[in-house]
This record gives sequence, C-alpha cells and structure tokens, in this order.
Amino acid sequence: MGRVIAIANQKGGVGKTTTAINLSACLAEAGQKVLAIDFDPQGNATTGLGLEKEYMEETVYEMMLGECTLNDCLHQEVQENLDVLPSDSNLAGAEIELLDLDRKEFILKEHLDAVRDHYDFIMIDCPPSLSLLTLNALTAADTVLVPIQCEYYALEGLSQVLRTISLVKKTMNPELELEGVVFTMYDARTNLSLEVVENVKSNLNETIYKTIIPRNVRLAEAPSHGMPINLYDSKSTGAESYRLLAAEVISRGEE
Ligand SMILES: Nc1ncnc2c1ncn2[C@@H]1O[C@H](COP(=O)(O)OP(=O)(O)O)[C@@H](O)[C@H]1O
Ligand SMILES: [Mg+2]
Repeated sequence: MGRVIAIANQKGGVGKTTTAINLSACLAEAGQKVLAIDFDPQGNATTGLGLEKEYMEETVYEMMLGECTLNDCLHQEVQENLDVLPSDSNLAGAEIELLDLDRKEFILKEHLDAVRDHYDFIMIDCPPSLSLLTLNALTAADTVLVPIQCEYYALEGLSQVLRTISLVKKTMNPELELEGVVFTMYDARTNLSLEVVENVKSNLNETIYKTIIPRNVRLAEAPSHGMPINLYDSKSTGAESYRLLAAEVISRGEE
C-alpha cells in the first residue's frame, strides 16, 4: 500500500513546492509509482510538472467538492511512473464551500484510500497555512515531510509544524508521524546556512535527512519550463540532490 506523504510547513517560500515536484519526479525516475497532488490554490506544482492550468476542465477542487471523481481529474503518466492531480486558483474557495459539510477534514483521505494500492508514494504539496486544505492533507497522510529553509527563522516554522502535527494526531489522525526534516536552499558560501543546520540538529530529536538541498539556480529555473529538475538539467547539483533524497525516502520505507 502506498505511503502518503504531506509536504508541509506553514511558512511560505521554504521549498515545499520545489520539493514536491522534484522528489516526486525523482522517485518516479527510480521506478516508484507516484501520485503527486497539488493541494495549493497557487497551482505551482501543477505548472512545474508541465500541466497547463488554462486547459483543465477538472481539478482537485472539483474532486473535493464532489463534482468529479479522482479519476476524472487525474493526469496519468505526466512522466513515466508519475501521475498528477492538478489544482488551480478555484481551490482557494473550497475552504468556504466545504465549511458546512460533515467530516470535512476527511474528504481527501476518503478519495485517496480508494487508490492507495495503485501507488508506492502519494505526495501532497500543501499550502502555506493551517487551513482546512492542510488539515485534509494531514488527515490523509501517513507522514509529514517538512522542508526547512536555511535561514534565521527556520526553527520558528519548524516548531509550528510540530505543534500542528501533534494537534492532528490527537484529533483526526492518531497514526500521523513526522517523515523527516529536509534542509533546502543551503548556501555553502555562508556561515548562516551551516549555523541553521547545526542549530536544528541540536534542537530536534527527529529524523533529519542526510541529503541537504543546495541553493541551485537550475531548480529555480526549471518550473518556468514546466519540467522537474531531472528532465530540465539532469546533471545539475539540484537534480543530483533530489535523487539522493529520493533514495533516502525509499530506504526509510524499507527499514
Ligand atoms: N534549492 C533551491 N535553489 C534555488 N531556488 C530554490 C530552491 N528551492 C526553492 N527555490 C525557489 O524559492 C522559491 C520558493 O520555493 P517554493 O518551493 O515555491 O516554496 P514554498 O512552496 O514553500 O512556498 C521559488 O521561487 C523556488 O524556485
Ligand atoms: Mg508552494
């Protein structure tokens, strides 16, 4: 049965979407069957994986509202082994439209339970807020992967996510666990990046991935070409580090 991983951090701009796109693509490249879900109304994972929002009839928004099935909005084999559930700005409205529903935190989980068996990994790119969408993602997930940007306020973001995880554990999803923390945008030229890594390591008893994602301009360029890094620049340091991260994520599952 597939492992459902929510990529979450209430802070914006820390590398959630970049990680969702490229970790999904590198897991697929390694032969894993992957479903990537864009669960952010900004739709950046959708375009970053090469789908054009203008030409989409149905998205995860219609699925959440019960207006279409998961299969109706599924884009199969966007890359070998990689399926995508796209989103667009309509998803922002789902927050309000779902408010009166029973079990409104469980909608995504119920859709995913029906398809989990088809995948090795289901990756959910969360919006940067503790919204009903994020709660749906954390309720559906087995684990949470937290990208941390190597900058001063990193620990603040991290303690917020840890609080959110423990809240969801107590209420909607007792099985939820931290998958791990991954450092992003590491800049080897500054002491700050190193200090942040050391600081988080000494304050956290949880899993921290050995792979650190460096700041790499190719990672920032790739989305505007609608390609994940392994296709855009297969030999870049960005591609190599997301491949290493994918290998770590796979081996964690085998432990
Ligand atoms: N390792 C990296 N190297 C260079 N730029 C990066 C890297 N990771 C993310 N970025 C850039 O930083 C910005 C924020 O990243 P993003 O993944 O969208 O964060 P989030 O989804 O958490 O808001 C984007 O412009 C992205 O291209
Ligand atoms: Mg994002």
